Amino acid sequence: MPADPGGAVTRPPSASDLRRAAELRETISRHDHFYHVLDAPEIADAEYDRLFAELVALEAAHPELAVPDSPTRRVGGAPLDAFDEVVHEVPMLSLANAFDASGVADFDRRVRERLELGEGEEVEYVAETKLDGIAVSLRYEGGRLAVAATRGDGTRGEDITANVRTIRSIPLALAGGGYPESLEVRGEVYLPLDRFERLNEEQRARGEREFVNPRNAAAGGLRQLDPRATRTRRLMFFCHGSGDAAGIPSASTHRDLLRRMDEWGLRVSSDVRVVHGVSGCIEYYREIEARRESLGYQIDGVVYKVNRLDEQRRLGAVSRAPRWALAHKFPAEEAVTTLLGIDVQVGRTGSLTPVARLEPVFVGGVTVTNATLHNQDEIARKDVRVGDRVVVRRAGDVIPQVLRVVDPEKRAPDAPRFEMPEACPVCGAPVVRIEGQAATRCTAGLGCPAQRKEAIRHFASRRAMDIEGLGEKLVDQLVEKRFVATIADLYRLEGRRDDIAALERMGELSTKNLLEAIDGSRDLPLPRFLYALGIPEVGEATAGSLARHFGKLFRIREADEAALAEVRDVGPIVAAHVAAFFEANREVVDDVMVAARPTPVPVERPDAEDGVDVAAEPGGATAPLAGKVFVLTGTLSGMTRDDAKARIEALGGKVTGSVSRKTDYLVAGESPGSKLKKAQDLEVAVLDEEGLLDKLSTSAATPSTTAIRDYTPE
Ligand code: IVH
Repeated sequence: MPADPGGAVTRPPSASDLRRAAELRETISRHDHFYHVLDAPEIADAEYDRLFAELVALEAAHPELAVPDSPTRRVGGAPLDAFDEVVHEVPMLSLANAFDASGVADFDRRVRERLELGEGEEVEYVAETKLDGIAVSLRYEGGRLAVAATRGDGTRGEDITANVRTIRSIPLALAGGGYPESLEVRGEVYLPLDRFERLNEEQRARGEREFVNPRNAAAGGLRQLDPRATRTRRLMFFCHGSGDAAGIPSASTHRDLLRRMDEWGLRVSSDVRVVHGVSGCIEYYREIEARRESLGYQIDGVVYKVNRLDEQRRLGAVSRAPRWALAHKFPAEEAVTTLLGIDVQVGRTGSLTPVARLEPVFVGGVTVTNATLHNQDEIARKDVRVGDRVVVRRAGDVIPQVLRVVDPEKRAPDAPRFEMPEACPVCGAPVVRIEGQAATRCTAGLGCPAQRKEAIRHFASRRAMDIEGLGEKLVDQLVEKRFVATIADLYRLEGRRDDIAALERMGELSTKNLLEAIDGSRDLPLPRFLYALGIPEVGEATAGSLARHFGKLFRIREADEAALAEVRDVGPIVAAHVAAFFEANREVVDDVMVAARPTPVPVERPDAEDGVDVAAEPGGATAPLAGKVFVLTGTLSGMTRDDAKARIEALGGKVTGSVSRKTDYLVAGESPGSKLKKAQDLEVAVLDEEGLLDKLSTSAATPSTTAIRDYTPE
């Protein structure tokens, strides 16, 4: 017989206990729905509290009755050490933006062209408010909330299930029936304005820092390791779609889909509306703009979505945004303030950025004290001088900008013009400005302390070496305490275990995890490592091209500008940056190659001159579709075009928008467009969906991660 924590013996629940607990769960969940989702309570709070207390007592007497979706289980479980990673089966995309009616008209024209609609045929859209909250994905398995995740980088997010369970407008179990076995709901977690104000009053009363805006407070609330802290923030949720709309039976439009979600107990905004054509969209925008202040939560615009799901599928997506949806943003807010001074900051790649220090001004929902001035040319063009009254603009999460000077004639006649310093303000090394470029850069490379921190942060970031746990604060401490001066030192931290554990916010477990994460980064493929080095102008794509062209790091390091410029997609500017980087950072790069060596195997040295074991470089990849150019047309049945693109790219292939002589394969789905004819004319190989799958699976069978010694260019 199970014993309760006090040691007393509990008896198993009787049939009537079981019945009553189920009844209470059902009743309480129903009233939660009335209260938190429909905003229309049906019983008094005291009555609700009585039911709740009865269920708590029953579950306390018989712990086996406290099933996971019991409403009593929303209070928040034990704190976590860290969030697990969740891979989004269907990437979470973002939205293309328009800022005025002509942007909306362009979007509508593109939609009609792609759908081949005739003159006068209007598109049916669903118009929604654009909530300024935090995007989340909720996966329901068998109708029960199984996993909740943040958007993250769109492909991988954080598992925030424990926190999301405390949000009462999110059902733990779906109501009714007819939902798919696995349902992914997407929506926005937000903090209503009245709760935001109350939260800040409480912060003030406790002498703690206030939150800058509801969005930040919501984001912070979701990322609490202790779910009880999330609960006290009293976040809310609206759903606005599904990751896999096709998997929902009986929904042929987006509107149907939202209706189903509503029937399953999910909270859908009452401002969702079906509209027709551009004029319907603009009318909706104006109406919402007029009501914006009375909504009770922050929105930053409206969203239009093509209503028919089959049309959405035909339209597909381009680089991270669907072609069937558009965010029509409210204008960015502007305010006038005084420019108190101009500081110069040094970024990761050594670029010097002038930053405006401003008299604090409230704009776009936050108090702004700094704004970017971009570079010397921008300052000269706008003729901004210290002491001027300036217009500052802030839109969404974008860094505030100084737009222009108000009444420049009113300034003192001797107000000096801004000049970029000739030496790096952090390390004193000379600065240079490469011809034809706006940026001025510090020449000390990774020798400059400001660049060091940024370089280490970038090196550790997700898309680079993905060293979990090596966050901003920790990098600051590691550099300031001189445990780490360069990226190579990261691989020598093992001996400083105790010192690290003693750092602020660290402990033995987090140190162990950190060292394991660093260790795990030793065998990553060459393109990731190259990208992680943070060479100016070398993003992931360029890093991939360089790796494929040269195969081994030492060859890239030895290549001169002319050889570098031969690489596909690498122009003279990038070539100059790459050559200059290896010139300036030769020692650090050599050092990291040795320090990060995965296993101390003796190897021959093809490059004996400087003693680097290039064969022991961290990781490498054979990219099976490297150099192959694909074009996609028509509708694929088993995957979206976006998925297809992602899978091709994951194997090193490239997907472009139009067929040319350089195209290797045209993938033709159902009802292909004119691209098919063009491909046939140019004798480009045409694959159907099955052919593509074949290619993907045979290519994927090739090992994709090996040591660099096995890395062979095509
Ligand atoms: S649809 C593929 N609908 O805006 C479609 N997003 O800027 C992507 N957002 O990441 C989302 N309100 O977090 C959609 N009614 C709405 C929205 C909305 C707010 C957010 C969402 C998305 C971001 C894109």
